[in-house]
Amino acid sequence: MADITVRAVRKSYGKTATLHGIDLAFASGEFVVILGPSGCGKSTLLRMIAGLEDITGGEIEINGRVVNKLEPRERGCAMVFQNYALYPHMTVADNIGYALKVAGVPKAERRARIAETAKIVGLGDYLQRKPAALSGGQRQRVAMARAIIREPGVFLFDEPLSNLDATLRVTMRAEIRKLHQRLSATSVFVTHDQVEAMTLADKLVVMNKGQVEQVGQPLDIYHRPASTFVAAFIGAPPMNLMDARIDASATVARHEHLAIPISSAMAAALAGRDVTLGIRPEECRVLPAGEGLPARVDFVEELGSGRIVHAAFGSRIFAAAIPLDIRVASGDLIGLALPPAQLHVFDRETGRRLDVTHSMGRHEPVRQAAEAV
Ligand SMILES: Nc1ncnc2c1ncn2[C@@H]1O[C@H](COP(=O)(O)OP(=O)(O)OP(=O)(O)O)[C@@H](O)[C@H]1O
Ligand SMILES: [Mg+2]
Repeated sequence: MADITVRAVRKSYGKTATLHGIDLAFASGEFVVILGPSGCGKSTLLRMIAGLEDITGGEIEINGRVVNKLEPRERGCAMVFQNYALYPHMTVADNIGYALKVAGVPKAERRARIAETAKIVGLGDYLQRKPAALSGGQRQRVAMARAIIREPGVFLFDEPLSNLDATLRVTMRAEIRKLHQRLSATSVFVTHDQVEAMTLADKLVVMNKGQVEQVGQPLDIYHRPASTFVAAFIGAPPMNLMDARIDASATVARHEHLAIPISSAMAAALAGRDVTLGIRPEECRVLPAGEGLPARVDFVEELGSGRIVHAAFGSRIFAAAIPLDIRVASGDLIGLALPPAQLHVFDRETGRRLDVTHSMGRHEPVRQAAEAV
């Protein structure tokens, strides 16, 4: 087990800056997921922790020791990649035990540790097979066994499941989580799949364009996204966002010709401001035409367990999750209710979350809230 501190870490390739100063702290035994769109710098950060990439600026500390200048093998990290790159001519046993062989571990000990590790990942009966005779999930487990056998303080995973089909991904996700409970090594798991991130993480780090957007527990991030980027990136379908102006004289926000009721606290705190309002599809309510705010059904997505209505609302399409007992069809006029307590509000310019609580006065709160995020 090991804790990891990343301090003001920057990375440039030539003149191009890829990471712009990353500060993160991972506790020993924590399962951390780094989530962000393609190209935001996730792999670069992970590879810098592993020692596979030079650090342009800042410091990385593992277990209280600055590792900037240490070789990968001196850092106590084991990495599992998307392309698990097994040796095709070697058996599962030899693949798993390769690092021990290189390290000169005696044969009898090696054999015992291979057997034990294979059992952990459920490959006990496959030791004599070659990788070509394994399924994708089994190969992925060989790659994990190869990392586990080194008994690392830190596991680094770079999209290890993205080559697997959807069903296998769900199974392997559960296996990785179980494995973590059993070994409790600090784990840093990179993905651009938000479901994977939400289900695996103790701590979730959302990255965007070489910067950290938000760090927190998955549900906290879901319920209190720090920016419009995070709001739109997490959740499927994503949060509905719309530009609006908080009315100075009524408790509504004006979006195009629509007047959206808001809480009196929001009205007081943000009167006259241009904001971005957000609401999750599952918080929108669909009402009969004539009630709520007018919208017209564009199409309906059937999920089996429920359905998502996509409806034209002003000039945009809004998603609303509805129970199976409400029947609507394309072209129907409906009403939308957006409960004021469920509205998220963001600064229009910066995209940062603005927090409005009932105890806030009229002028102070906005600045405080902007600083707090
Ligand atoms: N060796 C390199 N030389 C120059 N630029 C690089 C190099 N490696 C990565 N980059 C650039 O750095 C940025 C971050 O890349 P990185 O691989 O960390 O992204 P990522 O978040 O892992 O994306 P993905 O989800 O697609 O794997 C990208 O714009 C990429 O093009
Ligand atoms: Mg990557």
